[in-house]
Amino acid sequence: MIEIRNLRFSYHKSGSVILENVSFSIEPGTCLAILGINGAGKSTLLKCINRIHTATAGSILLNGKNIYKMSRREMARQIAYVPQVSSTSHTMVFDYVLLGRKPHIQWNITTEDKKIASDILQQLDLTKFASRYINELSGGELQRVVLARAMAQQPKYLLLDEPTGNLDPRNQHEMMSIVRIITSEQNIGTAIVIHDLNLAIRYCDRFLLLKDTQVHSFGGLEIITSELIREIYGIETDIIEHKGRKIIVPL
Ligand SMILES: Nc1ncnc2c1ncn2[C@@H]1O[C@H](COP(=O)(O)OP(=O)(O)O)[C@@H](O)[C@H]1O
Ligand SMILES: [Mg+2]
Repeated sequence: MIEIRNLRFSYHKSGSVILENVSFSIEPGTCLAILGINGAGKSTLLKCINRIHTATAGSILLNGKNIYKMSRREMARQIAYVPQVSSTSHTMVFDYVLLGRKPHIQWNITTEDKKIASDILQQLDLTKFASRYINELSGGELQRVVLARAMAQQPKYLLLDEPTGNLDPRNQHEMMSIVRIITSEQNIGTAIVIHDLNLAIRYCDRFLLLKDTQVHSFGGLEIITSELIREIYGIETDIIEHKGRKIIVPL
């Protein structure tokens, strides 16, 4: 489990506080949606957990161990992070996914590493793209390749920053469905920053809502109410039930 306790973060010593007193946990086998308006600090929070930024105060424990006391390599074996915008370079898909093995590689890439990479490409239906260049893929294909690289890391935890951001509706559902399946099947603890509330409630089972630098709410699907959505986003919605599923309808 990853436990975030009383996390505080500001970009500059005398600057404004971005996150304050943030506490929650990411548990294996669950998919946590991180919600909040633009600028609420969602990306910053993921970067603190992945140690791109260092918390100003508070602690982040990975199975009880302070992540700031772990080596980067040790951490990368457990936590994979996919940023909001992935840079694209002229790298072949297979090599790019193989790079995910980096935290595990001792001296040389082994046949085992290559097998892991090709198995993941197959699992994500990407085999046909293996020898294409990643800067020549569509948005949906690229997003899947980036996820494949994170999975090649064989992480225990997966941090995804807006993985459905610029995908068409079908690719959005496919991406979330893949993430949901690997989360459950491989007992991974997943945290996803996402703006589409209906995608979030369909595929995630835990919810963290950030507002005014703090945790406004944290819990299961039952905490998602019209009142909460009004408080966080300032919009009016009805929540209806359709075929046994909650659906959020903006008014
Ligand atoms: N590198 C940075 N330096 C200074 N301020 C930043 C930096 N990155 C983000 N911020 C500020 O931190 C706040 C939270 O940003 P961010 O975590 O990106 O929000 P979100 O992902 O929820 O939209 C915003 O006010 C943003 O302007
Ligand atoms: Mg962001």
